[in-house]
Amino acid sequence: MTQTTLRAQLQGQKTDTDLLMLMEDIATACQMIADRVRHGAFAGVLGTANTENIQGETQKELDVISDEIFQQIVGANPTVAALVSEEVDEVNWRKQSPQAGDFVVYYDPLDGSSNLDVNLSVGTIFSIVRLDAATAPDAAAVQIKGTQQIAAGYAIYGPSTGLVITVGQGVDGFTHHPGSGEFLLTQPAMNIPPQTQEFAINTSRYDLWEAPVRKYIDDCLRGASGPRAKKFNMRWCASMVADVHRILIRGGVFLYPKDSGNAAQGGKLRLMYEANPMGMLVEQAGGASSTGRGRIMEVDPTGHHQRVPVILGSRDEVAVIEEYYRD
Ligand code: AHG
Ligand code: MN
Ligand code: MN
Ligand code: MN
Repeated sequence: MTQTTLRAQLQGQKTDTDLLMLMEDIATACQMIADRVRHGAFAGVLGTANTENIQGETQKELDVISDEIFQQIVGANPTVAALVSEEVDEVNWRKQSPQAGDFVVYYDPLDGSSNLDVNLSVGTIFSIVRLDAATAPDAAAVQIKGTQQIAAGYAIYGPSTGLVITVGQGVDGFTHHPGSGEFLLTQPAMNIPPQTQEFAINTSRYDLWEAPVRKYIDDCLRGASGPRAKKFNMRWCASMVADVHRILIRGGVFLYPKDSGNAAQGGKLRLMYEANPMGMLVEQAGGASSTGRGRIMEVDPTGHHQRVPVILGSRDEVAVIEEYYRD
């Protein structure tokens, strides 16, 4: 069996050198984060950091450590103009005079961090935009729509460390090979089946949901004798990375809708660190991504910590949910 490295796969896709080197730096940062995550309880870093991020979440020590690793490795790349992180209030400008061709990297350094103390899968999500003109280094300069992403991906820290990426030519999955230290191609051209019988949502928020979401889940739960005339299975990892990874492997639909508990913020998940990159990956794998009322990647950002409703996965199922919203 021939083994394809991350670099060989990106070169085969004619990825330009700057982007290829940025992807390699991100892969390095993710390996270092994986290492810190794996030391777990021995390193004494599973607890909370006694600080809050701008979104009002209590930070875990590993949220902060992962953010620092990403800043050190990816921030040192000479083509990176700015880093924009879930865990950092302000945009971290690495260049005072950003030029056309420079990159902005948006990232969630540790996704699913509430799962750390129970030893379940967590991950790192990233999104890459290339500036098309010189710009002033201010917050407005990074409020760029998801349709402008040139690459996106995530690392998953599970039983093995995986890296799933797109540079706009489909989605490829790699597995970290501990012996060689390389990410090797293990899931080329990932493809989400258009139909599914599996949904992922935190049903403890049922009372808070809007009517279309409640009706959709009610209909799924009624199974073969209900209006959908098929039985559905349910999964919820509370790590978006793990839930989306499962959907990229075997299909399904993921919902974190706006509800009366998060409406003031516009939803729970973050547009730039979670929704846009996962939206790009899912669409590149043949799925769909929506707020319920439109395509996620077409949302016009109003701030880099902005939140949005997220519905994504198997495209026929996303279409059914959008239909419920229209009715
Ligand atoms: P993060 O750990 O980066 O703050 O993200 C957590 C997110 C996401 O990973 C997951 O889908 C969702 O929060 C889980 O929310 P609930 O705890 O409401 O289920
Ligand atoms: Mn968080
Ligand atoms: Mn997250
Ligand atoms: Mn996070």
